[in-house]
Amino acid sequence: MAILLPGGAGYIGSHTAIELLEEGKEIIIVDDFSNSTPQVLETIRKITGKDFKFYEIDYKDRAKLEKVFEENEIEAVINFAGFKAVGESVEKPIEYYTNNISGALVLLDTMRKFGCKKFIFSSSATVYGEPEKIPLTEECRTGGTTNPYGTTKLFIEQILKDIYQSDKEWDICILRYFNPVGAHKSGLIGEEPQGIPNNLMPYIVRVASGQLQELSVFGNDYDTLDGTGVRDYIHVVDLAKGHLKALNKIEKEGKGLYIYNLGTGTGYSVLDMVKAFEKTTGKKVVYKIAPRRTGDIATCYADPKKAKEELDWKAEKTLEDMCQDSWNYIEKQANRK
Ligand code: UFG
Repeated sequence: MAILLPGGAGYIGSHTAIELLEEGKEIIIVDDFSNSTPQVLETIRKITGKDFKFYEIDYKDRAKLEKVFEENEIEAVINFAGFKAVGESVEKPIEYYTNNISGALVLLDTMRKFGCKKFIFSSSATVYGEPEKIPLTEECRTGGTTNPYGTTKLFIEQILKDIYQSDKEWDICILRYFNPVGAHKSGLIGEEPQGIPNNLMPYIVRVASGQLQELSVFGNDYDTLDGTGVRDYIHVVDLAKGHLKALNKIEKEGKGLYIYNLGTGTGYSVLDMVKAFEKTTGKKVVYKIAPRRTGDIATCYADPKKAKEELDWKAEKTLEDMCQDSWNYIEKQANRK
């Protein structure tokens, strides 16, 4: 029995693929390389010394997806095939709603057809909108998303709740990621944003490496300790391990719809991140204070207690690991070019 990973060649998918293979699981990756490269698959094989099946298809292509289910015994699906760039989603709402929501529906419908009803969904802390309280618990109010990307996550969560309501044979686990950063310790896979990065850590590493001139710190007048935005940065390998724990839960206990925050429970400001990066790597990060970015909130971090209690999962890596591993990946990339 295999675990299907649509979008498994992407940033979070590839790190999760490694953890699954290292745990002895059989996996199948489906990806159309819209935000990844074939090279990643070879790297996963190289790091783990293990092989897996791969299909180059768009997960929205029902006929091709059905073929994957026909040819394999699929026990569970972890869906990483969502588009995730906030800014781009504002420019291209139709593409985002089509890929994320229509894609999820095609996938879920195909799963139902083949009697596969174990599903893990990559959601996001963005579903909390303006936080009701800090730290955020899974019971906090959701809604008020400020961009189409976030709204797709919110809608899919609702779709999953409705599906479970209609058929209690499903085992569904919704994982709300906070801010994933870092890379595999090998430095061979990591985040590869196309063009100028939107997110803080990819931007910091590119300023440190001289690829970009300076970081704009979006606002220093928030109601936080140093005035800059506070987030819950989580190492991507910790996040990947969270999927393994979620899979264990739905494999063993089954029958339910579960929601977990995957965060560390600690908030760091933009300037904390700059300082930690400089201290860990010895590299200078030139920055300037710029106006606030539309749609940003002051503070967002998780209460990760529920995941600890119910999944026995806890983020282990430090802020230094996050900075070091992000930098290590960029350096290795530069050496390969
Ligand atoms: N920031 C800067 N300069 C930059 C980029 C970011 O100052 O060049 C600041 C932001 O204002 C914010 C913090 O760094 O205070 C983090 O910003 P990111 O863009 O890295 O992350 P966000 O918290 O805005 O968004 C991330 C993911 C979303 C997800 C959300 C969940 O990108 O996919 O976390 O809370 F929905």
